[in-house]
Amino acid sequence: MFQSPRPQFTYLGHSTIRCDLPSGEVVLIDPWVDQNPSCPDHLKTFDRIDAMLITHGHGDHMGDVVSLAQKYKPKTVIATYEICHWLSSKGVENCSGMNPGGSQHALGLRVSQVQAVHTSSIEDGDRMIYGGLATGFVVRLPGGYTFYHAGDTALFSDMQLIADLYRPILAFLPIGDHFTMDPHQAAIACKFLEVRQVIPIHWGTFPALTGTPQDFEQSLENLGVNCEVITLQPGEVF
Ligand code: NI
Ligand code: MN
Repeated sequence: MFQSPRPQFTYLGHSTIRCDLPSGEVVLIDPWVDQNPSCPDHLKTFDRIDAMLITHGHGDHMGDVVSLAQKYKPKTVIATYEICHWLSSKGVENCSGMNPGGSQHALGLRVSQVQAVHTSSIEDGDRMIYGGLATGFVVRLPGGYTFYHAGDTALFSDMQLIADLYRPILAFLPIGDHFTMDPHQAAIACKFLEVRQVIPIHWGTFPALTGTPQDFEQSLENLGVNCEVITLQPGEVF
């Protein structure tokens, strides 16, 4: 079967995904590496970062965006309008703020921002700054390959709309519980999204995140959802 070109995905632990595009460019989703207890040391530095996508303002999703932007000078940093406003005030260049429902082109990709059911605030010293809505991203490559990174989210039935609108083949879904969906809800998400493959994220980093890939696979089986689970340990590549 013909496979359109897709990125090579490296799991840096928690929700952080490094995408090496067929062009050789590097996209980092939810940049949290230095303080990320799951991120292997040898993956905390990069040869290049061409774009960063940030799903929401929490520290475990954008804790390193300012330092990485200074070091690697990405061509674009994509997040909500509010997060981009804050990042710009911290000296991050090339921010391109947006809001759910919209799409923009970056590095030849079509980046669509979609809703998430979660909060989004930025801790700046002892202040909590409004970060706009929490979001996820659907990314389509020039050849058509499309994937979805859900960020942090509860289950919501409009994931069916994401399936209708964007037809992702692969999803990165949180399964850890406490702050996001648990494995059972994530299995229902796979049904709504009609994805062929899923990579579990946001699990195992802290004791509060109790959902496991094993429970997730069991939930998919119980529901009769035909979706391949690709479990990556931090540092592993798909
Ligand atoms: Ni969060
Ligand atoms: Mn989180």
